[in-house]
Parts: sequence; C-alpha cells; structure tokens
Amino acid sequence: NEIVVGIDVGGTNTKFGLVDSAGNILDEGRIKTTDYTTVELFVDALYENISPLIKKHGDKTVKGIGMGAPNGNFYTGCIDHAPNLPWGKDEVPLAKLMTEKFDLPCILTNDANAAAAGEMQYGIAKGMQHFIEITLGTGVGSGIVVNGSLLYGCNGIAGELGHTIIRPGGRKHWSTGSRGSVEAYCSATGIVITAKEQLKKKAYPDSKLREFKVDDITAKVVNECALKGDKLAQRVYSLTGRILGEALANFVMFSSPQAIVLFGGVIKAGDYLLKPAKKHMELNLLPAFRERVKLLLSDLKEADAAILGASSLVQKSKATKAVHP
Ligand code: BGC
Ligand code: NA
Repeated sequence: NEIVVGIDVGGTNTKFGLVDSAGNILDEGRIKTTDYTTVELFVDALYENISPLIKKHGDKTVKGIGMGAPNGNFYTGCIDHAPNLPWGKDEVPLAKLMTEKFDLPCILTNDANAAAAGEMQYGIAKGMQHFIEITLGTGVGSGIVVNGSLLYGCNGIAGELGHTIIRPGGRKHWSTGSRGSVEAYCSATGIVITAKEQLKKKAYPDSKLREFKVDDITAKVVNECALKGDKLAQRVYSLTGRILGEALANFVMFSSPQAIVLFGGVIKAGDYLLKPAKKHMELNLLPAFRERVKLLLSDLKEADAAILGASSLVQKSKATKAVHP
C-alpha cells in the first residue's frame, strides 16, 4: 500500500490528509494559513503537523507530497504572486522548500486544478472528458478539463478564470488592482464587500446583519443569515449569483464543458446562489449551448476533492523530478 500526502493550501485554512492508493483519506488535519507570515514558518508548521502522521504509517510507505495552492505553478513548483496569501506575493519555491524539509518529492499545482483532478478521479466528474471546476472560497479559482486533461498552457498557470473581467470598470480588486473581476464579486471576500454595500442602503431595516459590527461580518455570517431567512443576506446571494451566472456563460462558451462543478465554502448558500446563477448562465448562452451544460455541486466532503486531487498528482506521476528541475 502506497501512501501519499495531499495538501490543499487555502487563503484562510490549509488542510492535509494521508491518502492511500484507493483514495481513502487515512488521517487528516488542518492549520490556519494566515497564522504564518513567511513561507518558511508555514512549511515548518506543516512539517510539525504532518511528520508524526508519516512516521505513524512508516516513512517508507509514504511516497511523496501533492499540493494544491492558489497561484501554484505546475511547471515550476512555485507560487506565482498570489493575491490572497500572506507570504505568497512574490515567486515562492514552495515545492522545493517542501522537498527539502520532508525529504520527499513534492508536486505543486493550482488549488482549483487539484480539486478538478480529485473530482475527475473520485467525485461527481468521474468519467467526464470536458468540465470546469470552479472553486468559490477566499478567492475564485478554476480547473479546466479538456479532452480528459487539465489545461496548463504555456506557463503552467492556465485557467485563472476568477481574474477574468465580468464588470469592466467595476469593483477594484483588493490585491491585484484589476476592476470588475469575477473574484471581486463571487469570492467569500467579494460577498462580504457586497453585504457591506447593501447594509449602507435603507432597504431591509430589520435585517439581522444590521446587528453585527461591520468588522464582524464574514461570508459565514452572511451565509447563516441567508439560510435563516434573512432577506438582505439572500439579496447578497442573488446579486452574486447573477454575476456568477454571467461569468459561467462566458466560461461555457469558451470550452464547451459537459458540466460546471462548483466547489468551496461559498456553495453552502445552496439555491440562494445557484438559482440566479443557473438562470443568468442560461440567459447569456448561445442557443447551441443552452439547457445542455449541467451545473453541479461537488459531492466530495469539503476539502477532500483538493486533497485527493493533489495526492493523485503524485500517484500518477512517474516523473516527479521533471516538474521542478
Ligand atoms: C488565485 C487562483 C486560485 C483561487 C482560489 C485566486 O485568487 O489566483 O490561483 O485558484 O484564488 O484559491
Ligand atoms: Na487553475
């Protein structure tokens, strides 16, 4: 039995698991990404948390580490100027640092690509040749699968659909400075901004969201309020869902996927987000695409898709060294 470490680096939390060759997650845990100010401290913390698990299963059984991270570059093993990571602003050789620390081969890819790989091997996209995984979390990411393969492009980072522009001249991104990106609206960060904008208006005076201090409003709070029936919070999702749907129509017409699979914390809003997203996707598709593409939610437990996907990179790869020469 070969075991691989799968790690899903997120803007807020980093989750890891030890995965066997059948895709069972044997042990798992998490650390808070934002607790670490430098990549060295982050790698040290991963080592402290993961090496006891590796020892438990026997050093020789664990074959390598697969990682998905925002702005992770599959070709270079580096994080490439991540807008939402405290220690990822420049080019950070994460795979190399991990290999040195753990003395194991490490493969890095984009976090959404890892989720797509997991979905394809173990999840709702099993058997699909064409689909797009969209991760809606601290940022918005995508993994584009065409003809059964992930799209990597000439520089290893193809598929940054979260940074495509859906409202030209619109909301300024807090980190990249671009205007009107999908991420600026449809990420957890964007949802909080939308909620704060709505709170400045007079509508829905009785909203529960008004009882929070502005700084205490998180995407989780907005989500819980919406699910409890709060009309202002639900409006935040209908505004977000519309923009997401328009963006999805663009994405669908780009690569003609069989399905879009949504993944990440934001999808907990369920129909409050999905209904407007579906409606505005269909409205903006050319007739030839309409009513064809499925809009699906990941059916893997939160984070598992990315952990499994990251681990599958190592399990499948015979040439781990070629990835970061
Ligand atoms: C990054 C992507 C990442 C996404 C989700 C975006 O800001 O540019 O690489 O996949 O966030 O973490
Ligand atoms: Na990607």
